[in-house]
Amino acid sequence: MAFDNSIVDIKQQVNIVDVIGREVNLKKAGSSYKGLCPFHNEKTPSFSVNEQGQYFNCFGCGRKGDVFRFVMDYYKLPFMDAVDKICGEYGIKKPEWGSRGPKIDYDKYHAINAKAARFFYNCLGKIPNKGISYLSSRGLKKETITAFGLGYAPPDGTALTDYLRSQGISDDDLLMLGLSSQGKNGLYDKFRDRVIFPIINSNDKVIGFGGRAIGDAMPKYLNSPESSIFLKKNNLFGLNLTRREISDADRAIMVEGYMDLISLYQAGIKNVAASLGTALTDNQARLICRYSKNIVLAYDSDQAGINAALRGISVIQGAGGKARVMNVTDGKDPDDFVKKHGKDAFLKLADNATAATDYRIRLAAKDFDLSDDRQVLDFIDRVVPILRSLGPVEQDMYIRKLSEKVGISEHAISLAVNSDNTRAKTSRPSRPLNINRRDYKQENSLLERLEIALLLLASTDYRYLNRLSEDGIIIRTALADKVRSAEESLVNNIKPGALGIDLNEISELLDPDDEAAFRKYLKSIKIGHDDEAFYKQTKAAYFINNYRVEKTELQSELAVAEKLGNTEEVERIATALIELDKKINRLTEDVNG
Ligand code: UTP
Ligand code: MN
Repeated sequence: MAFDNSIVDIKQQVNIVDVIGREVNLKKAGSSYKGLCPFHNEKTPSFSVNEQGQYFNCFGCGRKGDVFRFVMDYYKLPFMDAVDKICGEYGIKKPEWGSRGPKIDYDKYHAINAKAARFFYNCLGKIPNKGISYLSSRGLKKETITAFGLGYAPPDGTALTDYLRSQGISDDDLLMLGLSSQGKNGLYDKFRDRVIFPIINSNDKVIGFGGRAIGDAMPKYLNSPESSIFLKKNNLFGLNLTRREISDADRAIMVEGYMDLISLYQAGIKNVAASLGTALTDNQARLICRYSKNIVLAYDSDQAGINAALRGISVIQGAGGKARVMNVTDGKDPDDFVKKHGKDAFLKLADNATAATDYRIRLAAKDFDLSDDRQVLDFIDRVVPILRSLGPVEQDMYIRKLSEKVGISEHAISLAVNSDNTRAKTSRPSRPLNINRRDYKQENSLLERLEIALLLLASTDYRYLNRLSEDGIIIRTALADKVRSAEESLVNNIKPGALGIDLNEISELLDPDDEAAFRKYLKSIKIGHDDEAFYKQTKAAYFINNYRVEKTELQSELAVAEKLGNTEEVERIATALIELDKKINRLTEDVNG
């Protein structure tokens, strides 16, 4: 079934590891989580949940899919109810099923924003202009400006509006995206005489803009209005360019401002993301934690920055990440700091960032005079809730540290922590396992071949492993999934500097049957001299195959709808089929070209 975009939005806001983790005991294994499959009887875990790709897969019984599929199969719910259940539990607004209201055409709005971004970018290129002078005065190089697609909104008042109207864009759309505002004499440009920062989501779509005043105009930054296209709380600035580095470095530095991110990036520190001028939200924390769980908060050290850090710590912990706080001294923000002191000095500060609990305790200590006994007791009162929020090992460690610091015995602090411990232990009722012995045959040998081909490429250059999940390629067939797990575990021990993985080592990790099949593919698949071309062609073939499967499903849905005389549904499916055909044709050209 073809999903509309709101489903994609929902998926971005939930973490499949949380959802499944409530019902299945999952243990981290390499880059995924493993556990006993809830869909068939087993004693050794063959059920795995991939966090980055947000899918599950059991190579025992073959069940696999995304978070919706899990909820549907586990709780035996139809699709819409599964979506409603997830939305209810995560406090996400439910989609209005079958609503007659206008459906949002995301592609259309993204395309308009892309046109606007190009317009701003071109204006910045028409030298001289105030935008380019401003950016150079802030030390940005041409290549950085290009990488971020920065632009300039001219001062005249209607340049962008005129241009987009000439491109056939309607006034309603200009207003909806906040590119134009309604004035007494008609529409005028919202962004005037500002430097433009396009905000691009992880799917490389331009979703909005930030515009910085060049002089003292207020506000300093003008942003696109919130809309279903531009939801600040779900996005981070810069992540489209930096997520790979974040994943590779297994550390993300969170900053507050557009310029902080760009400046660090230019200085060669690329594992950075910026919240969009808001306190870090739960969804942003979940988003960043998909790439790395190690988050360093690099906020201003003023009171607002401290509050932002405290809030950041708790949302990151809520998303399963580990937060540390960096003390950016001597300079107002990371941008100023890195300009003044350089990359290495900044990285040193990041390495020395304070662990979340130390940060919280240190901050609490500031309010008390610990040489005064009575204040020590108040301080302990303040710290007890922090200690209670920790796991047992960490708790023990901090009790020891505190005891040294304030001269109260560990035993006494422990008593304070454990007394009147009202933290509700919400134990969920355990539900019976839903055992389904249906055998899933791996009948799709073409799919298997394509997946193995992609993984073979990844073995010669393991960076392709990341590419796969970034490009939305989900390894589904059993053999390929075993090869993928083998590669992922080998990558973790790879020699420094090595790009590839030893094929023999992969083979050693496979069962004899699987190994034989794998070797057969090895012989028949030829990568050739151009890795990238091979990747692109195989990727295209992979998606064509997926779309064909989807097409067959839609065709049978169409037959049902026609029989029932549901014209609305017929129309929807027919449109979806046309779209699918277009996609298939486009990709077929890629494969041949
Ligand atoms: P800052 O005021 O710290 O600005 O706001 P900055 O990023 O250091 O910018 P420069 O260096 O003065 O150019 C931090 C972030 O808060 C949001 C922006 O995302 C900004 O990058 N912000 C700030 C707004 O959205 N509107 C504003 O008026 C100010
Ligand atoms: Mn700044």
